[in-house]
Amino acid sequence: MSNDDGLDRATSKDFGSLRGALTFLAPYKLQVVVASLALIVTAGVTLSMGQGMRIVIDRGFSEGSSEMLAQSLMVFTGLVVLLTVGTFVRFYYVSWVGERVSADIRLAVFNHLIRLHPGFFEKNSPTEIQSRITTDTTLLQTVIGSSVSIALRNMLMFVGGLILLFVTNVKLSLIVLASVPLVVLPLIAFGRRVRSLSRTSQDRLATVGTQVGESLRQIKIVQAFNHETEDERLFAERVESAFSVSVRRVAQRAWLVGAVMLLVFGAIAVMLWVGGQDVLSGNTSAGELAAFIFYAFIVAGSVGAISEVYADLQRAAGATERLVELLRAPNELPVEQPATVLSVDAPCRLEVQDVKFAYPLRPDMPVLQGLSFVLEPGEMVALVGTSGAGKSTLFDLLQRFYDPSSGSIALDGHELTQVDLNSLRSRIGFVPQDPVLFAGTLRDNLAYADPQASELDLRRALQLSNAAEFVDALPQGLDTPLAEAGVGLSGGQRQRLAIARALVGSPKVLLLDEATSALDAQSESRIRESILGLKGSCSMLVIAHRLSTVREADRIMVLADGVIQGMGTHNELMADNELYAHFARIQFADGATPETPVDSAAS
Ligand SMILES: Nc1ncnc2c1ncn2[C@@H]1O[C@H](COP(=O)(O)OP(=O)(O)OP(=O)(O)O)[C@@H](O)[C@H]1O
Ligand SMILES: [Mg+2]
Repeated sequence: MSNDDGLDRATSKDFGSLRGALTFLAPYKLQVVVASLALIVTAGVTLSMGQGMRIVIDRGFSEGSSEMLAQSLMVFTGLVVLLTVGTFVRFYYVSWVGERVSADIRLAVFNHLIRLHPGFFEKNSPTEIQSRITTDTTLLQTVIGSSVSIALRNMLMFVGGLILLFVTNVKLSLIVLASVPLVVLPLIAFGRRVRSLSRTSQDRLATVGTQVGESLRQIKIVQAFNHETEDERLFAERVESAFSVSVRRVAQRAWLVGAVMLLVFGAIAVMLWVGGQDVLSGNTSAGELAAFIFYAFIVAGSVGAISEVYADLQRAAGATERLVELLRAPNELPVEQPATVLSVDAPCRLEVQDVKFAYPLRPDMPVLQGLSFVLEPGEMVALVGTSGAGKSTLFDLLQRFYDPSSGSIALDGHELTQVDLNSLRSRIGFVPQDPVLFAGTLRDNLAYADPQASELDLRRALQLSNAAEFVDALPQGLDTPLAEAGVGLSGGQRQRLAIARALVGSPKVLLLDEATSALDAQSESRIRESILGLKGSCSMLVIAHRLSTVREADRIMVLADGVIQGMGTHNELMADNELYAHFARIQFADGATPETPVDSAAS
């Protein structure tokens, strides 16, 4: 969603993208038909009033017939009632369709994005997308709910009014007609510019939303670094730049509307003058002139109204274009069909073969360079390596958040590209390095993988992860609410809860990315107990920053320079892997607990 090329396309494609929104109208044909009928009826009634006026003036007044006047007023009253009902129906259904369509577009965009490959959100900022879904669909909502209806109504009035003008008086109508191109040409010229400015202004608005989201979410960092003033400055810059683009857009629009008014009413003045001469000389009746003026105002008013909403439609086209872009973003992790669905009791033997990988954001910086290993069912393997070696990256690949650039990853002999993503991810339990929790209760967070999980499942998971104790100590227990991002728990508590969450789905493979900082010695030994308790029930791949974890493992793999440099037990690696020995000396030196045997890293 690069803004530059988006803008280029915006000017060339015009309303084409609005068609994307039109497909969303398809399910609501009935409402659209009702709204259109109401539209036609109200326009028809309004137009017929001019004819009524002519009759009243020419016959009722001129011929002095009060009976005629009374009759006409009865008809008039009937028309007013019809107009009232018609207007109600039109307004209700048109707005209904506008609200419904924008709600559907919101749903469609979200439903598409939530299943998209994570790499997409590295190239396109999620907060920006978020603000777009809100601002762009809101714009679309007002446009479909009102501008489109105004445009259609006025187009009907314009055409009908023009026909009736000719019916009433041909000579005067020609004067009106002559001014039409004078009005339409500036409309098109200004409209173009309004549209491209509108896209820019929506883009700027999105960046305003982005900063609010980021600053407020990280409020402690902002304040800890005394960054408030700088944030104010950056925010003001964005707001002002959005403002200046909007003002340019508004200026274009003001010119447009003003010019149209001048031309239209100029034409009316000329017409009045010519028509007035005709009435005076007796060539035209007063009623005819009155009706004519009525229609002329209707035609002029409708052109004015169209010119005003034309710009809105242009803006909506810009907004739709961005939403359609999001909707059409292809998923880069397609599953080969027919997809393999892993059964609940699949052994889940994991085989990684010669995997090479670079992140889409930095394609020239390989992270993994030929990684191969096997994780047997029930086995526990610890993965160690320096910071930035690519350990967390490997977890990303195992869950298929990205595909390797080359090489293969297979589960029970099925390439990940062939495995149904839901079944793959439900066999894998994942504890992220930064244990992310969501707003909601502890229970909501715990039952995240399986909202139907029984109380028993939840208790078991809490016991296994040693989280039961602190959860029970909370006054509201599992029903304790958490604020956004899990605010309200300590780092260690968050991590234990994240482990419990991963266990609720009874995964076959547990991927545990140990956080280095969050745990004290006591919690650490608890986690160690947890891992001990889990051993055998599922296979585990643990990114280890702690000796206690490493000691429990059946095997240890040393990751360096994107490949596995050594594999074996702690003692074996201490003896023959220089890198591991060095790593253990630094990494585990202060992690050594009193129960650490003498053969440990510290020795
Ligand atoms: N989304 C990303 N886009 C581009 N590069 C990335 C991305 N995530 C990580 N990297 C880079 O990939 C490399 C490996 O990162 P990774 O997170 O796998 O390291 P790690 O071994 O888990 O380190 P640590 O022990 O510090 O957690 C790093 O050089 C990092 O800068
Ligand atoms: Mg990591």
